Amino acid sequence: MTSLLVESPAAGEAETLRRGAARVLLGNWMGASTVPSRGLYPHQWSWDSAFIAIGLRHLSVRRAQRELETLLHAQWADGRVPHIVFNPAVPHDAYFPSPDFWRSSSAGAAAGAPAGTETSGIVQPPVHALAAWLVHLADPQDSRRRGFLPRVYGRLAAWHDYLTGARNLGGGGLAATVHPWEPGMDNSPCWDAPLQRVEPAATGSYRRADLDHGQPSERPTDLDYGRYVRLATDYRDGGYADAGAGHAFAVEDPCVNALLIVSEHALARIAAETGADPAPHERRAALLTEALVERLWSPEAGMFLCRDLVSDELIPEKSVTGLIPLIVPGLPQEIVDALIGTAQSTAFRLGEVPMVPSYDFGGAAFDPSRYWRGPAWFNTNWLMERGLRQYGRTAAADRLRAAMLTAAGESGFAEYVDPFTAGARGTRDFGWTAALALDLLVAAERPDEDAQGSGLPQDEAIGADA
Ligand code: SER
Repeated sequence: MTSLLVESPAAGEAETLRRGAARVLLGNWMGASTVPSRGLYPHQWSWDSAFIAIGLRHLSVRRAQRELETLLHAQWADGRVPHIVFNPAVPHDAYFPSPDFWRSSSAGAAAGAPAGTETSGIVQPPVHALAAWLVHLADPQDSRRRGFLPRVYGRLAAWHDYLTGARNLGGGGLAATVHPWEPGMDNSPCWDAPLQRVEPAATGSYRRADLDHGQPSERPTDLDYGRYVRLATDYRDGGYADAGAGHAFAVEDPCVNALLIVSEHALARIAAETGADPAPHERRAALLTEALVERLWSPEAGMFLCRDLVSDELIPEKSVTGLIPLIVPGLPQEIVDALIGTAQSTAFRLGEVPMVPSYDFGGAAFDPSRYWRGPAWFNTNWLMERGLRQYGRTAAADRLRAAMLTAAGESGFAEYVDPFTAGARGTRDFGWTAALALDLLVAAERPDEDAQGSGLPQDEAIGADA
């Protein structure tokens, strides 16, 4: 990093960043949705689209609305929002696993997969209601004129019903994920122990297309892929059924559930705006918050941990996923203080290194380059920034925002960065990196609007500046 944008970026730097981010978002736009990356991820991804909509709203509210509506249009009748919506114009060998692997329209028919659109059969974290609310706030008049929220409300509510219903595999009220691709942090060291139980698919039985675009040292290993393929195959062959499926991999993840809670609060606001009753959503958000603390908080670790539902034990690995609940409003003060203390400890070094790493600097599995085993990602840091701001740590949030803006621009909007140097890793011109940089830039310039647009109950903000 050659420079740090402090507080608010200088006008020239801000303009260069804005133009760069807009170039990425316009370049990745496919007409009805945005690809995360033209080469590595050439279809529509679920949580990518939600983060992308959050930035795209500053360029085109209509496109941001469309982004979310395109994704929600591929929703299954059981409520699940698939993690990939395939573009039929893209050749099958451009990405693995392709539509002929997932076979959603046939293998997923009993679970209610759409007949006319091919999708994957797994899900990703529920950022969508938060994104829909933020897109609405960007231009409420246009949103009302176009009936945006009334059109998405039912689908978003059904999505949350699926997560809290069919996916309540642990019985404690939290949403479980049944594949490492679902929490979105594919090769997190948190999954190393649960994945030991999974017999990898034979190496020659599929071809990894990701290695056509990425450095092998920055991607998951072949052994990881063998296990991903086995789990996806078994889920597909069981008709994508959740209940009674005897999942070899089933975990409760803090980031997934924190996003569900924040999105449930957003759903309450969406309900009120559309004339529906917000109270059931607020009630559910409160119940989920209680369950999150009860099932995943570890006072010893000073952070939230993942729960392995097969062994019914907390997984001792420290991943950034366990800090993300800082975005949840109304947490007990001692949990907020402990989370911020852990973020600032030698494990994550908030304020000392440019951005928060994806995994414990001192963890045995730490690797500064390999995907979710150390590199810093822009979506998790965007969430940390909002969490810090929500709990009154304004100076720390400002520092993180400035560092993210510098890193986004200097890395060429990299997918992730080295957590010590912020040097680019993974692919470049990455959709959510550009989108979230744009969102932070607007927030730095118009702080009042940002506070209003957070989607979180500001009156619950507590704590003092660190
Ligand atoms: N992250 C996965 C991949 O790398 C898919 O969601 O392809």
